[in-house]
Amino acid sequence: MQIIRQLSALRERTKLIRESGRTLALVPTMGALHAGHMSLVELARRQADDVIVSIFVNPKQFGPNEDLDKYPRSEEADAARLAEAGVTALWMPSVSEVYPDGFATSVKVANLGELWCGAARPGHFEGVATVVAKLFNQVRPDIAVFGEKDWQQLAIIRRMARDLDLDVEIIGMPIVRDTDGLALSSRNAYLSSADRQAALTLPRALNDAARDIGNGADVEATLADAKARLLAAGFTQVDYFALVDAATLEPLATHDRTGRLLAAARIGATRLIDNIAL
Ligand code: PAF
Repeated sequence: MQIIRQLSALRERTKLIRESGRTLALVPTMGALHAGHMSLVELARRQADDVIVSIFVNPKQFGPNEDLDKYPRSEEADAARLAEAGVTALWMPSVSEVYPDGFATSVKVANLGELWCGAARPGHFEGVATVVAKLFNQVRPDIAVFGEKDWQQLAIIRRMARDLDLDVEIIGMPIVRDTDGLALSSRNAYLSSADRQAALTLPRALNDAARDIGNGADVEATLADAKARLLAAGFTQVDYFALVDAATLEPLATHDRTGRLLAAARIGATRLIDNIAL
């Protein structure tokens, strides 16, 4: 596996791939790879001849008081894991390679980017859309694979690709969970063992709410109960626990087959997100 840090070298490599008629998949990540990321890589390997994984902890998607500085980093272990998984190249640019002096452009997906996590983390999705648009232009993949754990991010990237006529097929990969049900996340590394135990209430509350709403329970009351349950279990704040249309992310007042439950809640300094289909 080639490790590439300069855009010029990346372009040389992807040019060779395209000229040889091989298809190319991109898996964008921020590193600290876990089994969830590796499932994206495996899917990409099945869908394309060559796979490029990017590792870039994107400063533009972190707010001023967020965890940019302490975001887990494990470059060497990540590279070893990706080489083992048969990845063609690892694209690992520096911040100045991605955002050179005077960088002034950003991509903002209105509405979709302002709901839910966008309301709780102003500017976050603008940072995500900007870096993903750049990654698409840098790598020019045929397909790109993203996890469904960040359902809103996936919806925003699909909308951006459609709105800007980006010639890349976006593929979503179902959430990978630990045996106890917690969705895998690089941020789980922040949890103490007591907090990790309490965090299990998040997938359980989502599961139970999906079942109850599916059985006809009142939506508003079910969502309120779920929030109260999270707070009682030790979550310090529930940013949202909502039933939304899976594509538009607009709230739904009643059960609908297009519905998806989305939740974000904080345990101490750790913010966890999860979601489930209805
Ligand atoms: O989901 C992530 O890890 C990031 O938001 C992404 C898509 C790699 C953009 O920085």
